[in-house]
Amino acid sequence: MKVFLLNRAATLLLAAVVLMSCSANEQRLVEKGFERAAQQYELMYEATPLGMYPRTVNNSGETRLIGAEPLKSGANWTNGFYPGVLWMLYAHTGDVQWKAKAENVTRALEVQKNQIYHHDIGFIIMASFGKAYEYCPSEYYKNVIVHAAGSQLSRFSEITGTTKSWDQWTSRGGTYTTYYPVIIDNLMNLDLLFKAYELTGDEKFLKPALSHADKTMANHIREDGSAFHLVAYNPETGEVDARKTSQGFSDSSAWSRGQAWAIYGFTMCYRFTKKPEYLETAMKAADFFINHKNLPEDSIPYWDFNIGEFTDYEWAYDPERFEEEPRDASAAAATASALLELKNYVDDPAKAQQYRDAAVKMLSSLASPAYMAERGENNYYLLMHSVASVPHNSSIDKPETYADYYFLEALLKLKNDL
Ligand code: GLY
Repeated sequence: MKVFLLNRAATLLLAAVVLMSCSANEQRLVEKGFERAAQQYELMYEATPLGMYPRTVNNSGETRLIGAEPLKSGANWTNGFYPGVLWMLYAHTGDVQWKAKAENVTRALEVQKNQIYHHDIGFIIMASFGKAYEYCPSEYYKNVIVHAAGSQLSRFSEITGTTKSWDQWTSRGGTYTTYYPVIIDNLMNLDLLFKAYELTGDEKFLKPALSHADKTMANHIREDGSAFHLVAYNPETGEVDARKTSQGFSDSSAWSRGQAWAIYGFTMCYRFTKKPEYLETAMKAADFFINHKNLPEDSIPYWDFNIGEFTDYEWAYDPERFEEEPRDASAAAATASALLELKNYVDDPAKAQQYRDAAVKMLSSLASPAYMAERGENNYYLLMHSVASVPHNSSIDKPETYADYYFLEALLKLKNDL
């Protein structure tokens, strides 16, 4: 009996030591990520004129900056992420110089509250004004969020039950055109509508958000939990006309960042609504991602899960083009952030632990020298190796502000969980 009790005490002690050392490692991961982010974004802030927003690096090696103005053409979805990074640096450090910087670049983006040319007002406003309101609530930030949600409603149709992503889309090979495309990414924009409902109690924001989420669940998500990238609706009848891809390998494939948006988007829908079907869908999408046979050992996905596996593509695919297919660090960063929220909603502790472990593995890889830039390198972005779109030959194996944003967001969630 005595020996049994001693063995039990030793096992418990060992478990406690292992837990403490895991937690110390994770603490170091958070500190390392934020320390490098502070170094990089200090330099980025000095190098960037107010009113311009870093997005990526051009092929010539120059930082690609985006203006604040909403543009009718050349839809841009990324200028909220730079303010968001600065807000998260403030949240982590409590240092008011980050707050001042974040306020400057957020206020300079206010004009985006009137953006009606494409669906991405949700990404833009919630990454900037949404984070501002989270860390420094004020009537000003609240009013911008609510105003922007009103602009977003202008793209909602009662017939399709969705908000339209772009006004027109033609497939890469020119064989198909739709005037009502909805992409899986658009689920992320519902954050703005749900937030406006939470802030005002006005159902005009809630109903379209629920309708869009339900339609996305029904029409974008395949049986195995993967997501079609683009669903084209008939604007007269509301019927689905076609399922396609824009940035993925093929119509049948699972584009990695699209899969991240599905996991994150349904997790966020569950946060606001507590509807069990959103949680189930988020879990199905997450299980597809983290258990996929083509997910590399370091858990940073290739830009698509099914490169070369299907023939329904319309772009100039050349299997010999890359020695190794490009990874998408941004897909891993957004997925890690989603999993660290999703795990809190899951009843089964083993499943919750699986999601947490998967997220920590992705974050550890992203914080390694293989993905995290040295101080002063990488045009002052934090992470390397993301992809905007291989089929469009756009920003391949480059840094992207959204990768940095979701990486830091995930680290803050991990910090809260230590
Ligand atoms: N439209 C957002 C993305 O490229 O992921």
